[in-house]
Amino acid sequence: MTSTSQRLYIQEVSARDGFQMETQTIPTDKKIAYLNRLSDTGLSKIEVTSFTSPASIPALADAESVIKGLLRLPGVVYTALVPNLRGCERALATTIDEINLVMSASESHNLANLRMTCEQSLVQLASIARRAQSTIQISASISTAFGCPFEGAVDVGRVIDLVGRFADMGIDQVALCDTTGVANPTQVEYVFAEVRSRWPANQFTAHFHNTRGMGLANVLAALRVGVTRFDASLGGLGGCPFAPGATGNVCTEDLVHMLQAMGLETGVNLDKLLLIAADLPKLVGHDVPGQVVKAGVSTRRYPLPEASQTTD
Ligand code: COA
Ligand code: ZN
Repeated sequence: MTSTSQRLYIQEVSARDGFQMETQTIPTDKKIAYLNRLSDTGLSKIEVTSFTSPASIPALADAESVIKGLLRLPGVVYTALVPNLRGCERALATTIDEINLVMSASESHNLANLRMTCEQSLVQLASIARRAQSTIQISASISTAFGCPFEGAVDVGRVIDLVGRFADMGIDQVALCDTTGVANPTQVEYVFAEVRSRWPANQFTAHFHNTRGMGLANVLAALRVGVTRFDASLGGLGGCPFAPGATGNVCTEDLVHMLQAMGLETGVNLDKLLLIAADLPKLVGHDVPGQVVKAGVSTRRYPLPEASQTTD
């Protein structure tokens, strides 16, 4: 297990992974106000939007305007998802700190999601790396790294191969994403141990969806093999519109609550996070899966019911 003195990094993805799934339009000014509140909670990174095709992801068509409205705080990295060269050009015309390149480990999901083969994606992402490396920070996310909704099992060798291809492009920050919540803790430990032993200096992020209730268990498994960076989504929003059955990410406030209860340092102010999470259903227009905001923190105490109090 990660030593208690080691700092963990919580990376918020609700405004991208979450909002991309919302069918009801969230006005741009409301997104900006939401992100500006999140900025002040101690999160180390916030994925604020994506530079995808507005035809594919209409909910994030306002990417440029969202970034323009951000009140950026020092110590927070603001990032945006980029699937292709056109997305990179759009991102470079803004003040975003980082671009997060995306492709899938499985051929079928890459085709469904990005309308490219994996090799076509790699060619585009390599040219983005050459084009943008000197001007902007670059990370990468590998979708379906633990399994694919169309093809089933994804071999760890495939993940190792892709991490190597990103390393060749000079990209050493890589998220392994369980897009449809099929990973289990034994697999998570194995896959992260494999990539970390090959690239010990890389910064690997664990990105889990809680579709089958294994999200926090998978976080613990990743912690056991030294992973310190976790993507999570406020309220447990999230999912990929091009992956059948995909649902929300690991819930940020539930994750921070668990890590703090374990005595691990996240740098995140849980009280502030819970206040924002409490307003989330109103913002998105529906209930959200997060549990701590409903149950209260684990140290919550209730008054003893009157009937069970002793009287003289
Ligand atoms: N931003 C804005 N517009 C874009 C764009 C981008 N990143 N990429 C392509 N387009 C536009 C092109 O300019 C073109 O416009 P035109 O018809 O007016 O000429 C049109 O979209 C089609 O371009 P093409 O290159 O054929 O793209 P595509 O339609 O095959 O879409 C992607 C490819 C990758 C852009 C699209 O599949 C996509 O945005 N996927 C994102 C999926 C996603 O975010 N999933 C969830 C996260 S994992
Ligand atoms: Zn995701």
